[in-house]
This record gives sequence, C-alpha cells and structure tokens, in this order.
Amino acid sequence: MNIDWSDLKYTGTQQTHCMVLAKILLALYKSDESIIGIEIGVQNGSTSFYLLDNIPNLTLYGIDNAPCLDHIKEHGGYEKAVKDKRFRLITDISDKAVKQFKPQSMNFVWVDGDHSYEQCKKDIENYLPITKKFIGGHDYGVDAWPGVTQAVDEAFGDRVNVMSDLTWMVEL
Ligand SMILES: C[S@@+](CC[C@H](N)C(=O)[O-])C[C@H]1O[C@@H](n2cnc3c(N)ncnc32)[C@H](O)[C@@H]1O
Repeated sequence: MNIDWSDLKYTGTQQTHCMVLAKILLALYKSDESIIGIEIGVQNGSTSFYLLDNIPNLTLYGIDNAPCLDHIKEHGGYEKAVKDKRFRLITDISDKAVKQFKPQSMNFVWVDGDHSYEQCKKDIENYLPITKKFIGGHDYGVDAWPGVTQAVDEAFGDRVNVMSDLTWMVEL
C-alpha cells in the first residue's frame, strides 16, 4: 500500500502504527461510509483517539481488561466521543468481551492486547468471525514478542501484509 501521510494530523508524539492503521482504514473505506471496529488493547487510548480524531465516520469499541482510564480521559476528544457513542470502552478480557459481538458485525479488528502466542492465537480465532473486511495488529516481527509473529503466520501464512512500524494486516 502506498502511503501518503500528508492528510493526517501528527502531533509529534504519536506512534507511527496509529498512522499506519488510520491510513489502512482510510484506504479501505470511502469517506462517507460508516466504519465500526474493535481495538483489543486500548492502554492509554492513544491509538483509539488518533483514529477517532482522524476518521470522523468511525465508531470504535475499545477492549482492555486494565485500561489507563486517567490517561484516556485526558484526550481532548474523549467526552464528545463517549457522548456521541463513537467510543465504547469495554473493561474486560478479550475472551469474554467477544461474546458481545455478532458474526460479521465489524469492519475491522485490531489485535494489540496480550502479546503471548496463546492469547494472540485466541484473539485471532475469536475475533476473525466478527470482522468483515480486515484484521490486523501490532508488534509483528519483534524479538520481544515472537508469539505474535508465530500466531499470525500460523493463522494467515502468506496472506499477511507487514506494513511499516511492526503492523500486520490481512484483507479478508
Ligand atoms: C500494547 S498495549 C495496547 C497499546 C494500544 N493499542 C496503543 O496502540 O496505544 C496492550 C494492552 O492490552 C491489554 N490487555 C492485555 N491482555 C488483555 C486481554 N486478555 N484482554 C484485554 N486486554 C488485554 C493491557 O491491559 C494493555 O493495556
């Protein structure tokens, strides 16, 4: 995918993978199309709010068993995104949260929770039926997280695209 960064807001502290994910979404969907997706592993919400800020037609479910709520609430757009129901935080483990979603109900799933082989494999297996268009995640090919690479390769083989900044994605 050819990436032109010029139309994205960049704060200077933002990690690149948020931009890569935003670009993937902007490339896959028309600007007037509603997009609904899931981020497994919200942490301090920096990716969540980067996406919500840059993609006005996005509704995002964030799943994290231990979100950094204080940090999440610091994001400028937090109150409005919650009020508008564009950001819906589920504080639970991904294995349980998945029960809230119907098959094929999401446009994408981003897997960035527990990076062990076992959990990454489970997240892929559990959430693949939920998403229609793409599944992806972060920390592919990182020495510290060999389980991510193993789980992704086993699930998708040569269908995996490895983008810049350790992002993996599979178009479905
Ligand atoms: C790498 S951080 C997420 C980073 C975030 N996606 C970003 O780009 O800023 C991983 C997060 O996954 C959460 N987590 C770990 N295991 C989980 C599980 N089984 N279910 C849900 N969340 C989990 C952790 O609490 C942590 O906040």
